Parts: sequence; structure tokens; C-alpha cells
Amino acid sequence: MNFEERKSMLEGKQQVHLLRFLDQLNDDEKQILFSQIDAVDWGFEQAFHTGRKKEDTMIEEIDALHLEKIRAASERYRSIGLQAITEGKLCLLLLAGGQGTRLGFDKPKGCFNVGITKELYIFQLLIDHTLDVVRAADAWIPLYIMTSNINYQDTVTFFEAHDYFGYNPAYVHFFVQELNPATDFNGKILLKSKYELALSPNGNGGWFSSMHKAGLLDGIFDSNLEWINVFSVDNVLQRIADPVFLGATIDSGKMSGAKVVRKACPEEKVGVMCKEDGKPHIIEYYEMTDDMLNKRLPDGSLAYGFGAILNYLFPIQRLKETLDKSMPLHIVKKKVPYVDESGNPVTPAEPNAFKFETLALDLIHEMDDCLIFEVDREHEFAPVKNSTGVDSVDTARALLEKNGYTL
Ligand code: UTP
Repeated sequence: MNFEERKSMLEGKQQVHLLRFLDQLNDDEKQILFSQIDAVDWGFEQAFHTGRKKEDTMIEEIDALHLEKIRAASERYRSIGLQAITEGKLCLLLLAGGQGTRLGFDKPKGCFNVGITKELYIFQLLIDHTLDVVRAADAWIPLYIMTSNINYQDTVTFFEAHDYFGYNPAYVHFFVQELNPATDFNGKILLKSKYELALSPNGNGGWFSSMHKAGLLDGIFDSNLEWINVFSVDNVLQRIADPVFLGATIDSGKMSGAKVVRKACPEEKVGVMCKEDGKPHIIEYYEMTDDMLNKRLPDGSLAYGFGAILNYLFPIQRLKETLDKSMPLHIVKKKVPYVDESGNPVTPAEPNAFKFETLALDLIHEMDDCLIFEVDREHEFAPVKNSTGVDSVDTARALLEKNGYTL
């Protein structure tokens, strides 16, 4: 695109303010600005103008495979899962591109030390859990790690400095997720500096197309791999490559799997599994009516009682079909530093911007069905979202100790 074309494109989109400081920039800065403008994915415009319009859809309860049933069949599930892993059918995807703003830690969240008297990093815990399965299956499991451009280098350097915590580096593949611009509340893209757009990671739902853009999918499609286990970085008790979960999903004949925990109370702020127009779906707590929140089944349990913990199994062949579709963008209000019209940097105290994010849960909706797999929250759910209070470093440490960890 030459300069005139770029300018008229921006005028058409009412974004020409991005060129506001052009006559103050040197040639290198101009090149950075132009290449960022040319790389913008304008899909966010539609999300801004229409919001995510919710059509009238039919929401229904979905049943889960309960703990008692899982325990009764766990040896059988485990052997089905381990066999699939030994045969090289499973790979892993760690979602580690988040900015962890609530934790307020300036490094990638996985580099956070939850130890007290010794070093015990979040990445280390996740790798330790995976190594248990590697040993049981006697097979390395390919591990893909999605970072953002912001935390890529810190993440790679951290793994290298710690010898991959004992994992085989030949099986670890890092890649970078895509970015979306942040806008002000009028839809104008913010400038981070006079020559850089305010760009931020595009959410945790775009991982499959980011893997595609990173050139990683050909190797996967040409391999034995059938399943991908996707999980978040921030649950320090997360069981990854869980052979029982994989075996139960294979045994069920369902297309996908989602680990869930029983909600602690009707008001707990967690997205719950349900069906939307017959397809598996996760409904956010704020989208639920009071009736739905409190509805009970004849046995007294909550009808919408299973919260998703961001640990899914997806079939690789089906994911391939989703590549042609664009993921819905969710709009979130955040504090985004920017330069004002005079070029002065501003660090807002209150949310000032919209970010446009894809969500992993939207991929579940693309599946025909899903095994809802209950896990014991005391043993498998210790999210580190905040530095104190609910779902914090403190609560995660307490749960780690309860599970026998020395901190
Ligand atoms: P969260 O929704 O908790 O977001 O991510 P976050 O950015 O880590 O934290 P806050 O909201 O700023 O405090 C859930 C999972 O999705 C990953 C995170 O790394 C975490 O594993 N994620 C999130 C990405 O990989 N990319 C993103 O753009 C956002």
C-alpha cells in the first residue's frame, strides 16, 4: 500500500488521526507506524459497531460425568488414555499470552514464584504435572506454548534458564498470538506513542489460527496426533494430559471434553456449561437469570452447577474445519496507556479503552457435543488471578499445601 492509498483507507475508516504526528517522525518510526497500520485486523470494527448481538437462543442444562462414576471407572479410563498418549495421539497447548493485569506482576504469569521457603514457579508446577504423565506413558507429549509478543522473550528465556524444568526441549514449541488494536470509547484506535498503535493480545480463543499463522499446523496434520489438550497458565493444580480425562472422552464417543468443577454457590462468578441450541456452550454468570442461577434438579443440586476451568480436549480434525470461520470478538473495557492529541503520554486511572478479544470457550460451541468431566475442586482448581483475596496467590498457596506441597 502506498502512502496515498493508506491515507485514504484510514480516512474511509475514520482513523486518519493515526497519521497525526507524521511530520515529527524519522524514517524508521514512519516504517513502524505504516507496518502496524497495514497489519491491523479490521474485524474489530464490526464488533465495535454491532456489539456481540445475542440472538434469541435456547439454553438448556447439560449433564456431566460425575465424580463417583469417574472414580468407579478410573482404571479403565486411565488405561485407554495412556495408550492413546503412548501412541502419540495427544498434544498440549498452554495458553500463556495473557497480561495478568489483576495479579500485577510485571513478568509472564508462569514465572511467578508461589514458593515461600523455596522456588516453585507456576510454569514449574505445570511441567511437573505433565512429567508425571510422560513417565506413566513412557512417551514425550508435544507441548505448544502460546505467548504474546509482549511476553514471548521473557517466557522463552525463563524456560531456557531453568532447563525446561526437565521437559525435553525438542517437544516444546513456542508461538506468538495475534494482536488487536485498542480503541477509545468512540472506536478510534489509540496510539501508544507517536508512531505505535496501542496493540494488545487478541484473547485466548484465537490460538488455533495463530498456530496456523505460525506454520505449526502442517506438522500436526501430518502426524499421528488426534487430540489437543488446551489449558490456562494460572491454575496451579491443573492436571494436564490427564489420561483419565482423555480416556473418558474417547470412551464416551463425544467430540470434545471440558473439565468442570461443581459451583461453590449459585452466585459464584464462573462461566457454566450448558447447551445452546443443542450445542455445548458456556454461559457467563452475568448472562444468567436469577431463575437459572437458582434452579435445582430433583436431587437438590444446581441445574447449571458446573463451572468450566479452562481445560479442554479438542479433536484436531474438527478444529481444522473451524479455520475458515472467524471467532466472535468480545469487547472488554480496560485501562490502556496512550498519547493524547498533543503527544503527551497518559496513564489512565480508570478504564478508558475497548479491547477486542476472542475467547477459548467459543470454540467449544463449534463442537457437536462435549463430555462434561467433573473434577474435585480441592484437588484440581487453584487459580491465581489476583494478588490477594479470592482466587489469589494466598488461596492457591493454601490449596497447594492442602495437596501435600511444601512451599
Ligand atoms: P485471563 O482471562 O485470566 O486473562 O486468562 P489474563 O490476561 O491472564 O489476566 P487479567 O485478566 O489481565 O488479570 C485466562 C488464560 O488465557 C490466557 C492467559 O494467559 C490465561 O492462561 N490468555 C489470555 C492468553 O493466552 N491470551 C490472551 O490474550 C488472554
